[in-house]
Amino acid sequence: MGERSMPSGAFASTIPIADLRHRASVPRVPDRPAPATGRLTDRLGRPLRDLRISVTDRCNFRCSYCMPKDVFDRDYAFLPQSSLLSFEEITRLARMFVGHGVRKIRLTGGEPTLRRHLETLVGMLAELRTVEGEPLDLTLTTNGSVLTKKAQALADAGLKRITVSLDALDDTIFRAMNDVDFPVADVLAGIDAALAAGLAPLKVNMVVKRGTNDGEIVPMARWFRENYGAAVVLRFIEYMDVGETNGWRMDHVLPSAAVIDRLADVFPLEPLDAHYGGETAERWRYVDGGGEIGVVSSVTQAFCRDCNRARLSTEGKLYLCLFATQGHDLRHLLREARASDEQIGGVLAEIWAQRGDRYSELRGAGKPQADGGARKVEMHYIGG
Ligand code: GTP
Ligand code: 5AD
Ligand code: SF4
Ligand code: SF4
Repeated sequence: MGERSMPSGAFASTIPIADLRHRASVPRVPDRPAPATGRLTDRLGRPLRDLRISVTDRCNFRCSYCMPKDVFDRDYAFLPQSSLLSFEEITRLARMFVGHGVRKIRLTGGEPTLRRHLETLVGMLAELRTVEGEPLDLTLTTNGSVLTKKAQALADAGLKRITVSLDALDDTIFRAMNDVDFPVADVLAGIDAALAAGLAPLKVNMVVKRGTNDGEIVPMARWFRENYGAAVVLRFIEYMDVGETNGWRMDHVLPSAAVIDRLADVFPLEPLDAHYGGETAERWRYVDGGGEIGVVSSVTQAFCRDCNRARLSTEGKLYLCLFATQGHDLRHLLREARASDEQIGGVLAEIWAQRGDRYSELRGAGKPQADGGARKVEMHYIGG
């Protein structure tokens, strides 16, 4: 049985689901679930700390590396409203994850701010407490397009901080990358609105695609350090082979080491220690005190060893890796099996205990994936 192919023991009852984009197995409900201890570890000894919840599979952008227009066109069948987890269902599951040790919840999409009344969900999640009795690190990844309208309401509801995706400052390049002709000025205004609402520290994520926006690395760094200093942390993300639709090629990846070299030529940098175990970004700071940047090197330097992230899809499937080919259908437990909190908590514990995912590490080492050939889930469906 392979690393990431599920059916075995507790997961024997794989039910093929008609839509192959969203393969999932229906977990068996344990008769006597063990109570949550807040200290789960998987097969590689990794705890569960970070839950990413996708609240919609839709987006108003069509970034070529995520939702290329020719695939996600007018005929593309996004999930129907009835498939989506309700806010009550999301919060109920989130509470169980928190009982198992989750401390950070990140809302993602698609574009999460497109989900109606998102601030209501934020308010519900903000009430949860970690097993240590602390408020959650509650955050959100957004393309920033509607932040001028929504940042204040999200902050008022209890959102702590925010991450805005922005791939270029040059308006022509940015409009081409989002592929819906969205102007960069509106995202910059959204960033200002988020900061004004107190959503801090604010991070900006730039996916670097060699030959497309790598000329924007230095201008982006200059803009954010000169205008925002330490208030904004800009992170450069290696373009990943996530999903099946973006036509990923290794020669489109600019390794983070090259990003750092290009920056350090202009703004001397020094490395910083990680904030926490399992952090995706490697941190650097400008020697002159101009603030901090990060690089996320999932292609050239996999960080699976400490990966403590679980992902809940819009329709309630649990994925244990960004590159998973199969999820676990938790919505079935909520709606059809009508399982109790204890039972679902027990299922989560069993699923995490069996987790052995380390996709990027295996790919980086040139080793075959256990379920190689199976279709990977799309990023807009489980979130970044
Ligand atoms: P902080 O909580 O602010 O530290 O953010 P984060 O780095 O945990 O989350 P974010 O979603 O901003 O991650 C940045 C980027 O790293 C994402 O957009 C992805 O491209 C990539 N990434 C995040 N998580 C994973 C992961 O588990 N595996 C891989 N391979 N890439 C990831
Ligand atoms: N490679 C790297 N990051 C990606 N994202 C989406 N697709 C990719 C990809 N192919 C991330 C970006 C974006 C977030 C929503 O998802 O960081 O900011
Ligand atoms: Fe939308 Fe973000 Fe994907 Fe771009 S990367 S298409 S903004 S979900
Ligand atoms: Fe975690 Fe999978 Fe990313 Fe590795 S590839 S860091 S296991 S999500």
